[in-house]
Amino acid sequence: MELINAVQHSLRYTEDDAGITELLPSYRVDMRHAKENEKFFNAGLVSDWSNLTWKEAGKPYEVKIAAKSKREYERENGEMSVKASWEYFNRSFHEWFVKDVPDELTQSKRELKQHLSRFRFSEVKEALGETVRLSLWNYAHRIEDGVWDPRGKRALFEGLDVHKPRILFLGAAEGYEAMQLYAMYPGGEIVMADYDEFCKTDRFGHFPDTYPFLGTNPQTGHMKVWYKDQMNITFLVEDIRNLQFGKEFDIVLSVGLLEHFPDELKHEALDWHRKFLKPGGYVIMTTPRLQLKSKLFYTIMADIMNHTYRELMDIRQMGLYVYEGGFEILRHGFIKVHNGIVAKPR
Ligand SMILES: C[S@@+](CC[C@H](N)C(=O)[O-])C[C@H]1O[C@@H](n2cnc3c(N)ncnc32)[C@H](O)[C@@H]1O
Repeated sequence: MELINAVQHSLRYTEDDAGITELLPSYRVDMRHAKENEKFFNAGLVSDWSNLTWKEAGKPYEVKIAAKSKREYERENGEMSVKASWEYFNRSFHEWFVKDVPDELTQSKRELKQHLSRFRFSEVKEALGETVRLSLWNYAHRIEDGVWDPRGKRALFEGLDVHKPRILFLGAAEGYEAMQLYAMYPGGEIVMADYDEFCKTDRFGHFPDTYPFLGTNPQTGHMKVWYKDQMNITFLVEDIRNLQFGKEFDIVLSVGLLEHFPDELKHEALDWHRKFLKPGGYVIMTTPRLQLKSKLFYTIMADIMNHTYRELMDIRQMGLYVYEGGFEILRHGFIKVHNGIVAKPR
C-alpha cells in the first residue's frame, strides 16, 4: 500500500486521467468534472443587495476559543501581535497538510490503547484528543477535500471574461486558489503576497509539484492539467498595506481574509481589493461558512487554527459587507466550507 502511494505521489497526472479521483496519504487528487446535474456552487440566494439590512442578515459568529500556544504566549508576554499570530497559525496549520494521515492515525490509535491499558488519565486525554483531531482532518481535508475543494473552486471561478490575466493573491498562504485560477485562465501571471516568509518558503514552497490543477490549454481550448512549476508565479513577502502596485491586476483574490477583521476594519480590508484592480477587473473573495460543521471544526482544531481574530459568516452577511464596501456583486453563493463572491467595484 505504502509503495503504491509513493509511486502515485511521484507520478504526474495527464489529460488521460481526467475523471479520476485518488486518495493519497496527505490529500485527495480530484480530476472529476462536474456532471450536468451536479452543483458545486450554490448560487443566487439574494436578488437585490440594496434591499438587505443587517437586521435581517444578523451579524457573524465570532470564534472565541484560542489556541493553547497563543494563550501560553500571552500569559508570558502580553498580547500577541497580529503578524505573530499569523506566524504561529501558518506553522501549525502547515504541519497538517504534510502528514501521512493514515499512518499517523494508526500510530495514535496504538498509543491510545497503550495509555488506556495503563490507566494514565492525562495521557489518555492527550492521545484521545490527537486521535479525534486526526480523524476530523482525515475526513474534512483528505476525504471530503473541504479545504482545497477543487470542484467547488472551479465552479466559483468559471466564466470570467479575462485573457492571460494578472492575478494578485492577498494573504496568499500556500497559494492554492491562484494556481487553480491560473490553470483555468493561463498565460498571464500570479503575484502572491503574504507577510509571513514561511508561506513563501514552506506553505507555497513545499506545495506538492505533483498536484494536478484542471484547466485549459490556451492553444487548443481543450482541457489541460497544470502543475505549480509550469506557472508564472512571483511570491512577495510583504505587508499588503505596503504593496506598491498601481491599478494593474485583472483579478484580485483573497481566501479566508475578510473574516479576520472586526467590523471597524472591514472597510480597509475591502479597499485593498479595489486598490490594485484594473478598470473592469474582478474581485474574488471567499470566507468560511457559518455552519455547525465549521463551529465544530474550529473547536476541535482550536490549538491548530485559532491564533487570530476569526468570524464565521453566512453568504448574506459576507455579501452585505462586500456590497457596503462599494462593490457590485456579480456572483455569490457557497461551496463546501466557504462562501464565495465574484464582484466589481461600483
Ligand atoms: C487565513 S490565511 C488565508 C487562508 C489560507 N487559504 C490558509 O490555508 O491558511 C491569511 C493569510 O494572510 C496573511 N496576512 C494577513 N494579514 C496580512 C497583511 N497585512 N499583509 C500580508 N499578509 C497578510 C497571513 O500571513 C496568512 O498567511
